Amino acid sequence: MCGIIGIITKKDRNLIPDITASLSDLEYRGYDSAGLALLDGGVIRVYKCVGAPSQNLNSEKIKKSLGLSETNAKVAIGHNRWATHGEPSVINAHPHLDCRGAVAVVHNGTILNYAKLKEELIGKGHVFSSETDTEVIPHLIEDYLGEGLSLGESVAKTCRGLEGSFGLAAVSAASPELLVVAKNGSPLVIGVLKESLIVASSQNAIIRYTDRIISLHDGEMAELSAGGELVYSISKFGDASSAKVSRQEEKITGISMEDVSKGEFETFMLKEIFDEPASVRAALLGRSDKNKGDAVLGGLIDYSDYLAHISHIYFVACGTAHNAACVGKEIIESLSDIIVESAIASEFRYRKHNFPKLDTAVFAVSQSGETADTLESVKEAKRKGYKTFGIVNVVGSAIAEETDAGIYTRAGLEIGVASTKAFTSQLAAIYLLALKLARERGMSVQKGKEYITELERLPELLKKTLELSTEPTKEIARLYGGIKTINFLGRGIHVPVSAEAALKFKELTYIEVGSYPLGELKHGPMAVIDKESLSVVLSPKDELFDISKNSIEQIKSKGGKIFLITSEDARGDSGINKADSVLYLPVLKEKLFYPMLEVIPLQLFAYHFAKNLGRNIDKPRNLAKSVTVE
Ligand code: F6R
Repeated sequence: MCGIIGIITKKDRNLIPDITASLSDLEYRGYDSAGLALLDGGVIRVYKCVGAPSQNLNSEKIKKSLGLSETNAKVAIGHNRWATHGEPSVINAHPHLDCRGAVAVVHNGTILNYAKLKEELIGKGHVFSSETDTEVIPHLIEDYLGEGLSLGESVAKTCRGLEGSFGLAAVSAASPELLVVAKNGSPLVIGVLKESLIVASSQNAIIRYTDRIISLHDGEMAELSAGGELVYSISKFGDASSAKVSRQEEKITGISMEDVSKGEFETFMLKEIFDEPASVRAALLGRSDKNKGDAVLGGLIDYSDYLAHISHIYFVACGTAHNAACVGKEIIESLSDIIVESAIASEFRYRKHNFPKLDTAVFAVSQSGETADTLESVKEAKRKGYKTFGIVNVVGSAIAEETDAGIYTRAGLEIGVASTKAFTSQLAAIYLLALKLARERGMSVQKGKEYITELERLPELLKKTLELSTEPTKEIARLYGGIKTINFLGRGIHVPVSAEAALKFKELTYIEVGSYPLGELKHGPMAVIDKESLSVVLSPKDELFDISKNSIEQIKSKGGKIFLITSEDARGDSGINKADSVLYLPVLKEKLFYPMLEVIPLQLFAYHFAKNLGRNIDKPRNLAKSVTVE
């Protein structure tokens, strides 16, 4: 949610192409407006636009607009925005300036006490031009510079007065060879090159230049200087003595330039759907011991004894991750006697928790590891005395750091705003966790071995499911293109998958659709079923298959159209003849694994439906990839 970039370089050069390329890499974090500032000697030059940086920022346009023949500079900062305070507009786009246009700031995060700060600053005569929370930052820096503090000291003092989350980069016309950055709750890394230093909200905006990075921790700031040698120094902004913090360089692992390009695919989302066999394979790799029939989860090893005795689990998550957690509840409860609740994080934060403190593990599920609601839920759970664990994709992210221990989902970089491979990788991690918990609670070695054998087949079966689904989902999306009412339906473990299908469909198509447990249809939603409606029913041949056939009959009796997703072993069953379209999944011995396969045609169905409507698949309107605001 919002992406920031900053570059400082030894020699003057045109930094706009690098700023633009990096902002494009960060576009998944926000794409409603963008901007940049160049530190041109003693002058700050700012260019802003509405819309995505990849389409609206280019050197020629910027040169023309700034009335410059050259745009060479030693320091530049850039930003793409996902509006929270004030509509997407040129005025609200970052960078924001102080009263004299001599300080520029880009910011990712939310300043909770901005209204009070703004009032105080206005009282002192500061003039604001935007509706953003960010704008207080350059004005505060302006005041402190006026007191005779250096830019670094002014940023530190400003940060000490801010409540909320921030990753920020600041420049001052008075310090033309300096870039100051600070981090608190929002991601920020520094890429180290020979001739320049690059600061960004994510490693994926840095990987195109270097794999050498310095991580900043919450509460830290860094001064990057190009006066003479290119140097950086890290300190804690809360420490008035500005004592230096030493930090080792690290190597970026787990992402490559290939991840930040679409390759042969028309969209990142399609690429990521087709990545699923590989990402699930990565999530499972080396994490089971066939002989023992058990999972091997290195990240949880220190808590093995603890987890062997828990009686309750709270999953906390949002959106797609919540849907994966709801599948997790079904799996863990069916394999063990643990009582599981899958809570929506934004609700969990604010409510009473009755599960016993000492015997309950809180598992936060998150792709980005940054989601504010999930992160705050973890903090709240810790305050209440619960042990917390992460099922997180982004290594070293805030949730990964905040939790006591965890499992990385190893999905790789997910750029499409609508989550796809993150979901199946979360399921893979949860399947392993469920095995571990079940083996500690009476599941036999033999059953464990069979479970692992089936788990190991999933990458291949996902590949097969992709092959089986590609053409039919295109055709079905075309066939029902004009339909006005769509409901996604299933029973048991398929209920959260139908919720995930509906979420994907809404995000991509902007069409409101429903999702219900199949048996609930007759208690109200059946009123919307007519011949203009489509029911997408998830019912592979498991123990609920026969009862689901009743519901199919009921939908048909009201004239509703049905798209049934079932398994190959149901072919020929008289009950399914009523469905208008049927897609058969490969047969699984372990029925609990069907969610992994059945989500594939649902992701593709939403994809093709949205594509036919001409929607922006990778960047649906009003959304951003990492939701770092409440
Ligand atoms: C849906 C989607 C969102 C996220 C949710 C949680 O396609 O992407 O619903 O799943 O915002 O995000 P993470 O998993 O990053 O915590």
